[in-house]
Amino acid sequence: EKGGYDHFMLKEIYEQPKAIRDTYRGRMLPNEGLIRMSGIDDNMSKFLNADRIIIVACGTSWHAGLVGEYLFEDMARIPVEVEYASEFRYRNPIITPKDVVIAISQSGETADTLAAIKLAKSKGAFVFGVCNVVGSSIARETHAGAYTHAGPEIGVASTKAFTTQITVLSLIALKLAQAKGTLSKSAVNAYLQTLQQIPNQVETLLKTNEQAKEIANVYKNAKNCLYLGRGFNFPVALEGALKLKEISYIHAEGYPAAEMKHGPIALIDENMPVFVIATSKGHYEKVVSNIQEIKSRSGKIVAVVTEGDETVKEIADHVIEIPDTEEAFTPLLTTIPLQLLSYHIAVMLGKNVDQPRNLAKSVTVE
Ligand code: M6R
Repeated sequence: EKGGYDHFMLKEIYEQPKAIRDTYRGRMLPNEGLIRMSGIDDNMSKFLNADRIIIVACGTSWHAGLVGEYLFEDMARIPVEVEYASEFRYRNPIITPKDVVIAISQSGETADTLAAIKLAKSKGAFVFGVCNVVGSSIARETHAGAYTHAGPEIGVASTKAFTTQITVLSLIALKLAQAKGTLSKSAVNAYLQTLQQIPNQVETLLKTNEQAKEIANVYKNAKNCLYLGRGFNFPVALEGALKLKEISYIHAEGYPAAEMKHGPIALIDENMPVFVIATSKGHYEKVVSNIQEIKSRSGKIVAVVTEGDETVKEIADHVIEIPDTEEAFTPLLTTIPLQLLSYHIAVMLGKNVDQPRNLAKSVTVE
């Protein structure tokens, strides 16, 4: 059932090219600039008249929601708030019938997310679900939705659910941008063509598995790790840190790279590995200077860069290259090496990768 892989997590990491392709298949026609999503089409006026979109989710799905915020605001110019479902439901939030709530959940059974949906519905908001499990409680409780087509995710550490959630959110953002006219027809088309290249690019990236293993071997005994990224890749830094802590039990924190000087830089010494996402688009020079600051304090740097990069290669201890794509789609690629690194560190430490201690696949209690 693990298809020849040692763990479900590794199998699911390797399933991502297919999962991403299955998620956009039949939904986009890149040559015509069309994105078909009946859940959006049937409710377009709700999205177009919304004062804002509120995204509610937990854990990795919340990280996908943060990428969604960057996508929606950048492409469709709709204000977005991203909330932990558990906070949202208990803080007497202001919700009106002019709000659109998007709930993201792989399992469709997360208790806090379900409760947040019920609250939003009781205040008259339109609630849209992005779930992986067909017929799940959240899929049934929402007014409309769009499924991710990741296939069953067994490993407790979410991998392919994350990248397929980002795929669905990208399609929704592009669709809304098309309807609102915030992106030209040719711009939408160019994005769709680029999105179609992602599965093959993920395939290429999976070939860095051996390199990830070597790097994992160097840092497996670290007690603490930092993950840094900016813009679209700030949520990827958070997700990278979560992946490492939940399966290897190494303490890790994700930060927006520029926040480092406001505190975390105090932690940097020769024992602190720092994983930095430094792709060529999106504040590259700023990230390079963050990397220099770490280096001058003897921190160890593992950088995820765009292929052909020369500057970071000079400074970092290790670099992993990703193929070039639109900045908005880089999370779909930068996530992959971080998943592989966490996986190998956990395996080398002898941890139970698929069923880490204290965790359940779906959190149906508050
Ligand atoms: O099924 P959901 O997407 O609603 O689950 C949300 C979180 O419990 C989940 O993402 C959790 O954080 C994972 N273990 C992360 O790998």
